[in-house]
Amino acid sequence: MLSRTLLSAIALLPALVVAQLSGTVGPSTSAAKKAATKTCDVTKYGAVADKSTDIGPPLVSAWADCKSGGVVVVPKGDYAIATWATLTGGSKVAIQLDGVIYRTGTAGGNMIFIENTDDFELFSSKGGGAIQGNGYQIHAKGSSSGARILRLYKVTNFSVHDLVLVDAPAFHFSMDTCKNGEVYNMAIRGGNMGGLDGIDVWSTNIWIHDVMVTNKDECVTVKSPATNILVENIYCNWSGGCALGSLGANTAISKVTYKNVYTWSSNQMLMIKSNGGSGYVEDVVFENFIGHGNAYSLDIDQYWSSMSTVAGDGVQLSNVTFKNWKGTEANGAQRGPVKILCADKAPCTGISVTDFAMWTESGSKQWYACQSAYGSGFCLKAGSAKSYGVTTSTQTAAPTGYSAAKMAGDLATAFGTTQSIPIPTIPTSYYPGATPYSAIAGR
Ligand SMILES: *[C@@H]1O[C@H](CO)[C@@H](O)[C@H](O)[C@H]1NC(C)=O
Ligand SMILES: *[C@@H]1O[C@H](CO)[C@@H](O)[C@H](O)[C@H]1NC(C)=O
Ligand SMILES: *[C@@H]1O[C@H](CO)[C@@H](O)[C@H](O)[C@H]1NC(C)=O
Repeated sequence: MLSRTLLSAIALLPALVVAQLSGTVGPSTSAAKKAATKTCDVTKYGAVADKSTDIGPPLVSAWADCKSGGVVVVPKGDYAIATWATLTGGSKVAIQLDGVIYRTGTAGGNMIFIENTDDFELFSSKGGGAIQGNGYQIHAKGSSSGARILRLYKVTNFSVHDLVLVDAPAFHFSMDTCKNGEVYNMAIRGGNMGGLDGIDVWSTNIWIHDVMVTNKDECVTVKSPATNILVENIYCNWSGGCALGSLGANTAISKVTYKNVYTWSSNQMLMIKSNGGSGYVEDVVFENFIGHGNAYSLDIDQYWSSMSTVAGDGVQLSNVTFKNWKGTEANGAQRGPVKILCADKAPCTGISVTDFAMWTESGSKQWYACQSAYGSGFCLKAGSAKSYGVTTSTQTAAPTGYSAAKMAGDLATAFGTTQSIPIPTIPTSYYPGATPYSAIAGR
């Protein structure tokens, strides 16, 4: 499927969730129609599938010829990218990446940067397209500076799908200041260290679904400003975990839903992180989460010590729902499954935790902790307004109904940071029992 209307989204999704999108996502014109207008094969512009000729300039030239209507094609084969491609000002354009592009250049910035473009699609026609960042060559030296693999900036009516991104020197994929996007059927696999974020998004009306991330930082994370974001069927297959944040001054995040998120061996299942700051996070839902082997689970920390304090009373959180969370955490006495520490000068309101049952994998107790947090469930207080200090309750018996399915393919050992990371195939499932919305391209 190349573009989706709100009508088809309504047919597929329950009412609560559809409210988070605000109209059409995806390209307005199909790739087939664009191809009928024009195709620009990079091998006609100097690209050679020899894993050493720089594909950067050919990509830029092919884009220039097809950017006003057409498809840039990277045929099957192994290519090298030594200089980065900034692709700007497109309309009715697609990039069909069927080959594998290996990083050989060493600059920072973005290996592929799409900006100021409308009606755009980046995809592989058979699910085999990949970008191999070879980040281990940098990480092995103890550094995580280097390029992001893919950035979209001011791109509207677009999709990115059926692609694999591997071992970014720095981040893997960010979308900022974009609108009406769909991202799906993706495997992102990075090294086991911080700074190698999977997907970061701050944009309007974006549907991210059926994505797997392996790394040790953000899985799929929403930053500010963002509204109408739906994140669904996400497999954090050994990662840092999903988050909102870090949040600073003038935060503006609303109408975000995460649904069907499976998290294995990560820092947290979901974290909202800030330290001071201002603005708001409102009308957000985290529904159907399964976790195993994670450090934190539900973790709101408005005094997050890994972030230096930002001026302001704190980001105001309101109307935040956590619903149907199951599974186990690594050590509940050390890091309890419910931690809701809100800013004393901006207490959280309308936090709801329902149908939540998790238990510890080691020992026989776990804690729940709240601070300046109002709403219902666990240690949340009724009412609003006044700050209160951390209240902790300890539980010594497993709650009923905590057990939850595991994914058969949970990564057993991290990839580390010193060796080449193999390119995976796109998974066929991202959450126990959930079927991806679209079949893998070409199958
Ligand atoms: C994107 O798509 C919407 C809905 O089809 C359309 O109204 C809009 O003009 C398109 N382009 C931009 C830049 O938003
Ligand atoms: C709370 O947020 C949900 C999800 O965005 C929304 O459907 C609901 O209307 C909001 N409730 C209020 C009282 O604003
Ligand atoms: C999880 O990651 C590991 C390592 O990449 C892989 O072997 C496994 O197949 C992944 N799971 C799925 C369901 O793709």
